[in-house]
Amino acid sequence: MPTFKLDGKEIPFEPGDSIIRAASKQGIEIPHYCWHPGLSVPANCRMCLVEIKPGPNQRAMMLDIVEWDPSINDYRPQQKPKLQPACQMPATEGQEVLADTSKHVLEARGHVQEFLLLNHPVDCPICDQAGECKLQDYWLEHQHTQKRMRDEPIHKPKAVVFGPTIVYDAERCVMCTRCIRFMDEVAKDPVLDMRERGNLNEVFVAPGRQLEGHYTFMTEHVCPVGALTTKDFRFKARVWFLRSAKSVCQGCATGCNAWLDYDNRSNRAYRYRPRDNEAVNKYWMCDEGMLSYRAAHEGRVTEARIGRKKATVDAAVIEATKRLAEVAQGSVAFVLSAQHSLEDNWAMRELGKLAGATTFYVSGAGTGYADDILISADKNPNTSGVNELAGAGAKTFANLLDDIRKGSVAHVVALGGITPKNDPEDATALGMLSTLVVVAAHEGALTEAAHVVLPATSWAEHSGTYVNKQGYKQTAEKGLEPQGASRPAWEHARLLAKALRVEPTWTKLKDIRAAFAPAPAAAPAPAPSTTA
Ligand code: SF4
Ligand code: SF4
Ligand code: FES
Repeated sequence: MPTFKLDGKEIPFEPGDSIIRAASKQGIEIPHYCWHPGLSVPANCRMCLVEIKPGPNQRAMMLDIVEWDPSINDYRPQQKPKLQPACQMPATEGQEVLADTSKHVLEARGHVQEFLLLNHPVDCPICDQAGECKLQDYWLEHQHTQKRMRDEPIHKPKAVVFGPTIVYDAERCVMCTRCIRFMDEVAKDPVLDMRERGNLNEVFVAPGRQLEGHYTFMTEHVCPVGALTTKDFRFKARVWFLRSAKSVCQGCATGCNAWLDYDNRSNRAYRYRPRDNEAVNKYWMCDEGMLSYRAAHEGRVTEARIGRKKATVDAAVIEATKRLAEVAQGSVAFVLSAQHSLEDNWAMRELGKLAGATTFYVSGAGTGYADDILISADKNPNTSGVNELAGAGAKTFANLLDDIRKGSVAHVVALGGITPKNDPEDATALGMLSTLVVVAAHEGALTEAAHVVLPATSWAEHSGTYVNKQGYKQTAEKGLEPQGASRPAWEHARLLAKALRVEPTWTKLKDIRAAFAPAPAAAPAPAPSTTA
């Protein structure tokens, strides 16, 4: 692989890489605002300027300048290297690039910072971006100076509602155009643009339109400063109080990699944001996915129930034991769920096998909107994983309803409450069952009709594995503590083994993982960090 030198360090690069991209792949950040690895390169912020040493047969590109000389009390003509934007300059073999080691580069970074902050309101104490703002970070890293301008800054529109999800503050905007390029190049809806010139520049929404669709949250995510904020997160939390868990979006079969930001003091999730992964979601998530962190709290089953009455987990297991005591081995039907992790499903399948079941039913959410950007029609995070576990003879939830109506299934132990559609006729069929024991994290038609409900932790409260539609096995880490009486569904399945008069083969999570994942799929390659 060809290499170039950055501040004396050898940096490998793929042909076509810019200097900033090659450095970023090696974990070296060249400061930048307008560059984003997933977008085109306008090179308009000038924060990434570097000094490129001329090659053996090249002439140095120099600029004529004047410098104040106190010894003659006058300006003296001078020359200095013409700095180049690292985001636009291709890396070339043997090239020598100076960034942190060039005094001209360090000076230029300070000046760009000072220029960007001339009219910036510096309202960090009330700005949602505070703590993760590139202006703040770079002031500390590359500027340090007090503001020299004494004039009143230019005032521009504030709290402009761009649409149902996003609010714009033109005074905070550094005109990097990332939001504009995102809507144009990724969301394929060029609804944003820039108007006016110089310090009157501002981003605006096309007349007659608003910023809407399935990818509006990403404009806030790519914004390196606090100019775009989401109505969902605005003024809700300070980011330095939040912790982040590596998560996998549960919204559809794409399985976008995400960070789940949560406050461990209140055990509450506050937002989802993309975790870069070149092979799955690159740098992006859709709005529905970014809002799906709410499912960590909404529609949850957090207490055990017997019928409609709240109960302890122990009492619910005793009730399940009573109901299943007279049932002959092999006559209980088991339902797996594409809404739950491989671990939960493996335990439920194992329980079924021990209890003599040979066929498994697969449930989960139904289908919905899809596009060719990210969003899949299958609204489950683990359909591929569950189908593989259930085997070739697996039956659908519709088959289960038919079998209940025909009378061939009277006793069911199910994982997951959510079913493909909330049809009242489904409830009627489920109501015909003699026994329905459901282990679930979320309410749905199955928990509604259940005789016994056991509360399972959601994906946010335990470590779990999900197989996306490409076949990647991806692990979502635990963030939140279990809510209410919930515990991992595989633990409930262990308790139910006793109710079914069988001996469970697993005790711990590692037993399950050893059983289902002898050779985990290779983790897909991460994308270079967006560092913004
Ligand atoms: S709103 Fe943010 S992303 Fe858009 S141009 Fe301004 S600073 Fe850049
Ligand atoms: S595309 Fe699917 S997995 Fe990705 S963020 Fe949207 S809902 Fe989540
Ligand atoms: S990042 Fe290179 S000019 Fe903006």
